[in-house]
Amino acid sequence: MSEQDNSYAALIAAARAAREHAHAPYSNFRVGAALRAKSGRVFTGCNVENATYGLTLCAERVAVFKAISEGERGFVAVAVVADTDSLTPPCGACRQILWEFCGDAEVVLANLNGKIERYRMSALFPKPFDHSFL
Ligand code: THU
Repeated sequence: MSEQDNSYAALIAAARAAREHAHAPYSNFRVGAALRAKSGRVFTGCNVENATYGLTLCAERVAVFKAISEGERGFVAVAVVADTDSLTPPCGACRQILWEFCGDAEVVLANLNGKIERYRMSALFPKPFDHSFL
């Protein structure tokens, strides 16, 4: 295993652990995310659902907002873990937020059985609307 694979393994493990804290009583779809900053710090998140449904926050956005609210800037990779055979990608809203703060970062998708896929944000989110238009 290369050093880079190893660091993704650690990021996936962090996302998997965060998933254990998911508050998903309505969908029972539990998701964990882990965001690696350029500094090396890792910020995790899980999905947090709400009885109104619409106020639900995805794991990815929880991880990003935790990091931003603690003053961190600049991110290199995010791992997303769910218990699905077809690996769970970030939703559209999360892609917009990930692009804002992480740019063309690596997105590592994984399930509980060790299946892993890697994408760049630019592949998942082509032609984004961002600060360059303002
Ligand atoms: N969800 C995430 O947390 N991240 C994703 O990448 C996909 C969807 C959550 C939102 C909701 O709590 C549940 O999964 C079902 O959509």
